[in-house]
Amino acid sequence: MTNGADTQPRKRVAVLISGRGSNMMSLVEASRALAYPAEIVTVISNRPAAPGLAWARAQGIETVALDHKAYPSRAAFDDALDAAIKATGADIVACAGFMRLMTKELVERWHNRMINIHPTLLPSFKGLDTHARALATGVRIAGCTVHIVRAEMDAGPILGQAAVPVLDADTPDTLARRILTAEHRLYPQVLSLFAAGAYDIHQDTARLKGASTNDAMLFSPPS
Ligand code: GAR
Repeated sequence: MTNGADTQPRKRVAVLISGRGSNMMSLVEASRALAYPAEIVTVISNRPAAPGLAWARAQGIETVALDHKAYPSRAAFDDALDAAIKATGADIVACAGFMRLMTKELVERWHNRMINIHPTLLPSFKGLDTHARALATGVRIAGCTVHIVRAEMDAGPILGQAAVPVLDADTPDTLARRILTAEHRLYPQVLSLFAAGAYDIHQDTARLKGASTNDAMLFSPPS
C-alpha cells in the first residue's frame, strides 16, 4: 500500500505488546492518516490474554498470540517470534509495552529496524518500577524515550524524548498517567520519522537529518 502523499510504499510495522496496548493503539490511530508513512500489519503478544490483542483483532488487524510459557527456552521463543514477524513481511518492529527480554541473536537480526518506548528519560531508570523509583530520587522532570533496540536492556540510539513535570503530590500512578499521555504523542511522531528514513543512525546515537530542535528549555519549577 502507498501513502497518499507520494508513491513511496508505506513501511510495514509489527507491534509487540504484552498487555493493555495503549501505545499500540496510538500507533494504529496515527497510521490511519493517509500520509502516515507506516502501516501496522500485525500485533503480536507473548501473553494470549493481553487486552491489546482483542482490541487489535476488533480493528481487523492480524494478531498473533505466542505464549512464551509454551517454549522450552528463551532462544526457542525468540525463534518463533522472529518467524512470526517475518511471516508478516514487516520492515520495522515496534515494541510497545513488550515486557520480555530478548536474546542478543533476535535483536541483531532486527538491527536498526526494531524500536521501543520506555517510560523514563533514558538512560535514567532502566528496567521496571520506574515511576516509584523516579519519585524516590526526587527528580523534578520525568518523561519517556523512544529508542532503537540494542542487546542491552533499555539501551540504544535515542530517537525522541518527551518531558513532563513531577508534582509534589504525585504517586507512581499519577506520574505514570502523565507520562503515558506524553508516550501517546511521542511514539507515533517518532515512528513516522523513523519510517520515513529521517534519521542518521550511528552505533550509539541517532540524529534527525537536518535541523531538529528549537530553543525551548524545560524548567521545573518554572522560571
Ligand atoms: C508503557 O508505559 C511503556 O512505556 C512501558 O510499559 C507501558 C505499556 O503500556 N514499557 C516499558 O516499561 C518497557 N521497558 P501500554 O501497554 O498501555 O502501551
